[in-house]
Amino acid sequence: MPNAILECKSVSKHFGGLTALNQVDFHVERGEVVALLGDNGAGKSTLIKCVSGVYKPEHGQVFFEGKEITSQPPSEIRDKGIETIYQDLALAGNLDVGANVFLGKEKKKQLFGFIAVTDDDYMRHEAAQLLARLDIHIPSLKQSLDNLSGGQRQAVAIARAMYWNARLVIMDEPTAALGVPEQRKVLALIRSLRDQGVAIILISHTMSDVMQVSDRIVIMRRGKVAADMMRADATEELIVKHIVGTVEGAA
Ligand SMILES: Nc1ncnc2c1ncn2[C@@H]1O[C@H](COP(=O)(O)OP(=O)(O)OP(=O)(O)O)[C@@H](O)[C@H]1O
Ligand SMILES: [Mg+2]
Repeated sequence: MPNAILECKSVSKHFGGLTALNQVDFHVERGEVVALLGDNGAGKSTLIKCVSGVYKPEHGQVFFEGKEITSQPPSEIRDKGIETIYQDLALAGNLDVGANVFLGKEKKKQLFGFIAVTDDDYMRHEAAQLLARLDIHIPSLKQSLDNLSGGQRQAVAIARAMYWNARLVIMDEPTAALGVPEQRKVLALIRSLRDQGVAIILISHTMSDVMQVSDRIVIMRRGKVAADMMRADATEELIVKHIVGTVEGAA
């Protein structure tokens, strides 16, 4: 796959006696939006956690930009340019917007020339510029994340991905808990990421989101890839058949 930014080769992951991933081959090309679909428990979140370093697969390999990253720690994988926005959102609710954009990479300044403290003003200033560029309005950047809406929190997570120049952004159900205007905003952000050449993996149960923003659709079923098709060749009916496993000839 000469143009693949991400490639998973024969990735398997077990939880005790349960096979969550069974020799999964999966790839994403540069600048491509791939929708990863499947029923509850199909293995979608497990697959992306094997990419982001949260889980170590027992078999198989993961390559990013041609280099193997299998089982590297999440912080190293993030440094390489893969930003993941989890279903169970991994932002810090008690910190403010600026601190969340810099989470894990906090900007320090020297107090009296020798005491290192976090530079909150700098982080808030940078976050404010970025959010303005993304047309995201958050009343006060001093608010802790707990006080923001789901859509605003997703926006902060996406802002964080952009600030650190992620080249692959993985989103696990970004619009599931959002109202309609917020869903639109997140979809617009996905498009603007793509326009900047960022590759995206989008996990979603919302068919209209998938049809609107994806270039390619990969469907998982019981820990395996059941189908892989271009968006242009997909219909909602065909997708649903693959998800529930009623396509003729399907496993
Ligand atoms: N940490 C874990 N420990 C044990 N089993 C797990 C764990 N994580 C996932 N599983 C199991 O692995 C299988 C795949 O789960 P996964 O979370 O990847 O599904 P999913 O496709 O993301 O589903 P959903 O759409 O509901 O989020 C399921 O049977 C699940 O119960
Ligand atoms: Mg999941």
